[in-house]
Amino acid sequence: MADIESVLKESRIFEPPSTFRQAAHVKSLEEYRALYRRSVDEPEAFWGEQAESLRWSKRWERVLEWDPPFASWFVGGCLNLSENCLDRHVATWRKNKAALVWEGEPGDTRVLTYHDLLREVCRFANVLKALGVVKGDRVGIYMPMIPEAAVAMLACARIGATHSVVFGGFSAEALRDRMNDAQARVIVTADGAYRRGAVVPLKANVDAALAGAPSVENVVVVRRTGEEVPFHAGRDHWWHELMEAASAQCPAEPLDAEHPLFILYTSGTTGRPKGVVHTTGGYLLQASLTMKLVFDVKDEDTYWCTADIGWVTGHSYVVYAPLANGATTFMYEGAPNHPEPDRFWRIVERHGITVLYTAPTAIRAFVRWGEQWPRKHDLTSLRLLGTVGEPINPEAWMWYHSVIGGGRCPIVDTWWQTETGAIMITPLPGAIATKPGSGTLPFFGVEPEVVDKDGHAVPPGAGGYLVIKKPWPSMLRTVYGDPERYVETYWKRFPGIYFTGDGARRDADGYFWIMGRVDDVINVAGHRLGTMEVESALVSHPRVAEAAVVGRPDELKGQALVAFVTLQAGIALNEGLRAELKEHVVKEIGAIARPDEIRFSEALPKTRSGKIMRRLLRDIAAGRDTIGDTTTLEDYSVLARLREEEE
Ligand code: WT7
Repeated sequence: MADIESVLKESRIFEPPSTFRQAAHVKSLEEYRALYRRSVDEPEAFWGEQAESLRWSKRWERVLEWDPPFASWFVGGCLNLSENCLDRHVATWRKNKAALVWEGEPGDTRVLTYHDLLREVCRFANVLKALGVVKGDRVGIYMPMIPEAAVAMLACARIGATHSVVFGGFSAEALRDRMNDAQARVIVTADGAYRRGAVVPLKANVDAALAGAPSVENVVVVRRTGEEVPFHAGRDHWWHELMEAASAQCPAEPLDAEHPLFILYTSGTTGRPKGVVHTTGGYLLQASLTMKLVFDVKDEDTYWCTADIGWVTGHSYVVYAPLANGATTFMYEGAPNHPEPDRFWRIVERHGITVLYTAPTAIRAFVRWGEQWPRKHDLTSLRLLGTVGEPINPEAWMWYHSVIGGGRCPIVDTWWQTETGAIMITPLPGAIATKPGSGTLPFFGVEPEVVDKDGHAVPPGAGGYLVIKKPWPSMLRTVYGDPERYVETYWKRFPGIYFTGDGARRDADGYFWIMGRVDDVINVAGHRLGTMEVESALVSHPRVAEAAVVGRPDELKGQALVAFVTLQAGIALNEGLRAELKEHVVKEIGAIARPDEIRFSEALPKTRSGKIMRRLLRDIAAGRDTIGDTTTLEDYSVLARLREEEE
């Protein structure tokens, strides 16, 4: 494991606008620095004070018990997450405030107030109890992005059942494996889900999965699309029928702060998916505090996080953190380009969205579709933008800033992981100046570092491995049923320190720049380059919308650099452009990063959460058959088309 060189040059800087700063929860860099200092000098005192903002049924005895690498936060404390998200607000003027505003793909809408949502959650909690679900049982959730998905999650939290949400785009096999690993007793699903006008047969997938998942005794089915679906008597139940019979009173079960709230499977690059386990108190605290300070959320906001509830972003920042803050969270069911590529902008205008949180993969798609689509809509309600999921290329950041944000909205580029549960490295929008492509500075209580292969901190400007040196409240507690794998995956490489798997560099201002997964690093003539930096150089060419670079074995250089490039819509391919792009990279970065080969492609292989799968591109570049797991691939046809495209 050698070190990583950083070659990206990016010097633009954006100060928080003064009007934004004045109204923000954290108003200056000095304020951030003072709070950060305290949070790392006295983490237990800091987190203890912050935890006062939650409702506890029993106060904790100790803030942290750290038996590396196993942490317990708020030891001895009891609370209930659904009570913190609902009952707490229903007792105030927020009772009739919109908690959840929803738009379906066909354009139908629903609004649930805090009062409405509490009643629905209580009723579904009673439904689960009537099906025999007790505290500690696992419940699978395999649903479209409809309000019932949030209701099901909160209902589990209310009675202490541990939920495991499986993204509705996953296959029956993927669902089966996850339900078996979790030993779920119930699955909550829908007849189908709308996606780009078509119907995804969720219930049929559940039926197929359950042929091999004997732990599941009951299936609750929401009627969404109205298609005929087969029903297994005794096992399958309609949501609306069970709900009709259920009482809207259900006391919130006081749960230990370390009670497992959810298991979420993350596939990683190889091997069986890992069941990342998150617990209750520390998770809720860091999720809700980041929500407040990073998204600067206020009662007046209509906040939209575009992630699916099948991902951790959907857990933390569609459902739990916004509701814990008494905010209005907006949820959309469908695809961003249905019926037209302006669907997101139509939604922003229609609902007056003020804070928008989305992913680089979506932003790059918007760049490719062209700015005529957002230009058709009034986006002036927006005041803050966010991004998460991959490094954002500086040019995509600039586009987001000017075309979507009208140049007036700060952008929070938030680095975190399924494993971290909540945001870890991020600007605070009223306090920290942003630089396109940088996640800027650590959140309170988070101590990241960039280290070399021996675990020593590297000097500013040098690339290395991103680690977290101290435990944080929303950290994963283990891998479900496999504590050895937890230790092995995260805590072995640098003993006693959490290894993120990402490469990064810290600049002279202390800002973090994530360079991509270390598994993807390219080794060209002894230079180890992060993928993000070369890709960003390509994306800074005005005709390029998206790029992925990988190494191909090369006798002379170790690896040759192969770039897969997607052009903006309507740009014709030609040899001249290939040469121009190679020279463009040389001009931006230097000769070491000159691509040896450029392949144009209509689309890149992505995971279902939108991350570029460079592992598959490496196989294609080397002319190998694809080895390893492709079940997380979003669109299989992309692979076949890429194989045909050769320079
Ligand atoms: C990996 C975690 C956590 C929400 C969704 C992804 C990459 C995430 C950023 C960012 C650069 C980022 C990292 C990380 N990543 N956010 N702002 N800048 N890279 O969760 O699927 O567990 O993926 O996504 O590589 O390790 P996940």
